[in-house]
Amino acid sequence: MNEKSDHIHPVFDSILGRNDKEELLNQNSKVIWMTGLSGSGKTTIAIALEQKLREKGFLTQVLDGDNVRTGINNNLGFSEEDRTENIRRIAEVSKLFLNCGIITINCFVSPTIAIRTSAKHIIGEDNFIEVFVNTPIEICEKRDVKGLYKKARAGEIKDFTGIDAPFEAPTNPAIVVKTDEMAIEESANQILEYILPLITAAKK
Ligand code: ADX
Repeated sequence: MNEKSDHIHPVFDSILGRNDKEELLNQNSKVIWMTGLSGSGKTTIAIALEQKLREKGFLTQVLDGDNVRTGINNNLGFSEEDRTENIRRIAEVSKLFLNCGIITINCFVSPTIAIRTSAKHIIGEDNFIEVFVNTPIEICEKRDVKGLYKKARAGEIKDFTGIDAPFEAPTNPAIVVKTDEMAIEESANQILEYILPLITAAKK
């Protein structure tokens, strides 16, 4: 509790619970947290995964850096402090989706162990599935889909992850996806196979 929250009294017990909503949707909600460099393929994989989940009847929500940063987080940049706040808000938003029974697929660079740990704490360890999209920087830079690596190398963008800002690989991710060795479909299937038993509602 900080000073600002002293006089706030959240009401949770009278709100319809997560279990009721999961039952309604016939699924168990989870947060699939994809971390990796810019251009590693997080969002592309998320879109493919979402499509596969939809075909199986699951309700999902994809959250991605570029979208969130033009909306709820449009006042944040890429300093360590701003990235920490970016991820804090995203984790809180993910928790809302989680409590709504919705499977959330997050695509954020989320570059440090500390940042991802704080997200995991907000979301809850049991609900948090860390996926490392492990694409070497040489490949991300070669792809340079958004032209950002070129700008970062030219000094036009500062604090760019992998160039002049750190990326710490996860030490114990649930899944490692190697997009340099696998097609997008295969990467999405790899995640799908892992999560299916976790998101499938128990038969009554
Ligand atoms: S995070 O570090 O705070 O998790 P986030 O995933 O929201 O980053 O946003 C990353 C996206 O913002 C990248 O995919 C890229 O398109 C864009 N971007 C712009 N500037 C930077 C930067 N300095 N470092 C990393 N990504 C950047």
